[in-house]
Amino acid sequence: MAENGAAAGAASVRRARADEAERLAEIQELTIDWGELRNLGWRFHVLLHHHLITSPDAICYVAEKDGAVIGYSAWTYDTRRLYAGFRRTYGLRAAFAVLPRLLNPRNFRPLVRGMTYTKIAQPDDPVAEMLFFSILPEGRHGGVGGLIFRTMLAEMRQHGVTALKAATVTPGNMPAVKFYERHGFRKVRTDRFYADTQVDVYVLDLT
Ligand SMILES: CC(C)(COP(=O)(O)OP(=O)(O)OC[C@H]1O[C@@H](n2cnc3c(N)ncnc32)[C@H](O)[C@@H]1OP(=O)(O)O)[C@@H](O)C(=O)NCCC(=O)NCCS
Repeated sequence: MAENGAAAGAASVRRARADEAERLAEIQELTIDWGELRNLGWRFHVLLHHHLITSPDAICYVAEKDGAVIGYSAWTYDTRRLYAGFRRTYGLRAAFAVLPRLLNPRNFRPLVRGMTYTKIAQPDDPVAEMLFFSILPEGRHGGVGGLIFRTMLAEMRQHGVTALKAATVTPGNMPAVKFYERHGFRKVRTDRFYADTQVDVYVLDLT
């Protein structure tokens, strides 16, 4: 694991701390403007990020520049196990956090999508997955994303992971598509995400 050791320009990369859950949720909301996760509310979003940082089934790294976190990425060794752990540990608090939001029917979509994840994933999909990857716009195109990526990939390999899935890209998201293709991912299919949106599924072979 790299602790402040790896640097792109003036940025460095390290494991996220539990007290940074709010900052990471904020970066997610600022960068993924097509995401509907935010419809589940701020408290839910922070709980989820707390889990991504602290769960033994996930790794979460931040990029820091001049003392400020400018981006992060969260990957899991096993998506189903990660979400099962979330339900076990945060289920009640998450339910209370989401409850008021469900008065608005449009907020059902991200909830149903999350709860039916295992039906959407294909049996042959890698169990390890890149879940979140966001660099603030002012920090992009300087190699920071690449630095986080290489650091996390090394940790995944150390853990014995042989393939990685990335399924969070909307087809029109060219910076992310180019990023994944440049780092060796290959597109395996296009899935429906919500009823009116699609997502390209990428796989990176680590063998
Ligand atoms: C995808 C994303 C994480 C990439 O982060 P990034 O920090 O810009 O990544 P990098 O800087 O390593 O690479 C991006 C580009 O900068 C270029 N670059 C890297 N270092 C560079 C440098 N020193 N000088 C000039 N260009 C450089 C790379 O060649 C790359 O170009 P290309 O992708 O056009 O081929 C970022 O665009 C992002 O946060 N997007 C919004 C959220 C998102 O879509 N996330 C992924 C799907 S959920």
